Amino acid sequence: MPIPTTEVSTKVTPLCPLFGTCGGCQYQDVSYEEELVRKEAILKDLLMKEVGLAADVFEPISSSPEFYHYRHRLDLTLRKRNNGERQMGFMLPGTQRLQEVTVCPIARKEINDFLPTLREEAVRKLPEDYKTANLVVRVGDEGKVFWGGIGRRSLRMKEEDYLWTVVKGRKIFFALDTFFQANLSILERIVGKIEGLIGWRNDTVFLDLYSGVGLFGIALADRAAEVIMIESVSDSVKLAHYNVRYHDLKQVKILEGQVETQLPEVLHELIGKPCVALIDPPRAGLAPSAIETLGSAKDLQSLFYLSCSPESLARDLKHLARVGWQVQKIMPFDFFPRTRHLETLVWFTRSK
Ligand SMILES: C[S@@+](CC[C@H](N)C(=O)[O-])C[C@H]1O[C@@H](n2cnc3c(N)ncnc32)[C@H](O)[C@@H]1O
Repeated sequence: MPIPTTEVSTKVTPLCPLFGTCGGCQYQDVSYEEELVRKEAILKDLLMKEVGLAADVFEPISSSPEFYHYRHRLDLTLRKRNNGERQMGFMLPGTQRLQEVTVCPIARKEINDFLPTLREEAVRKLPEDYKTANLVVRVGDEGKVFWGGIGRRSLRMKEEDYLWTVVKGRKIFFALDTFFQANLSILERIVGKIEGLIGWRNDTVFLDLYSGVGLFGIALADRAAEVIMIESVSDSVKLAHYNVRYHDLKQVKILEGQVETQLPEVLHELIGKPCVALIDPPRAGLAPSAIETLGSAKDLQSLFYLSCSPESLARDLKHLARVGWQVQKIMPFDFFPRTRHLETLVWFTRSK
């Protein structure tokens, strides 16, 4: 997305010595306030032009409590050059070039402090026949750093080491090999927003679709009569089961499989019950069959769509409107400060 220029220039000094080189951040040279104004404008412009939305559906952007040192995960490449030298850093987008990294100011402080140790340990572990390894380094609320990426089982964690964060007073566990939202500091805000918009009844069924380890379903489980999660990746499903067992949540059911194939049957079994769904698909957005299923789901009273890609969101909004979903609110959340990325929460109700 192009970054529009504004009349007021609020240039600041980037914290990162690699700003402009590594390609990860686009906004470190402007104030955080300016970044938020620009992101809001880009989203509004796209969705008003592409989807024809009215200006009054847009809520102001929710800022991140932390705008540096928020990422709890980094993905780094360790490479052995032909001369035997080892390099650790980020691959520059669209190239085969590796940028050595010794500091990343959007990553949590614990990860930055750990980078020299990571380099040392990873170089020591790299087998002679490995040219490249993709390293994952992660930290949870406890502050202990874990990493993996060399060897087939290196991302597997023992249960007692699982990472966690607390949302709505509840520990949510995740692992090195599962998806989990990159910015833990903003999760309470987004979960609180969804919770506040759902008109809960004592028989409400909450569908957490593309559920990962169950962040939303677990955090909101006490509000619902029943929670049903659908997730396709077995490592995440394993953690979702762990989360449910840990909190002894009898009302939560986890289905392993694709939303496209599982959802029609789930909806059929729920006929007559008041349902609310949250869909949080990957960057590519929704498959056409998922859109058709959501359109024909007459017991779904409201729908939330959490998107990390404004472009695929714009496309899906048009299709969801065609199958009977009307946008009530567009709520941008700044999950990824200093970068061009933006998360958007959309709330729909039925138009027919
Ligand atoms: C953006 S993540 C959201 C995860 C979770 N809602 C969270 O906030 O932690 C998308 C999730 O959808 C899963 N996924 C991708 N395609 C899927 C599909 N067709 N059906 C079900 N899950 C899918 C991915 O494995 C991933 O866990």
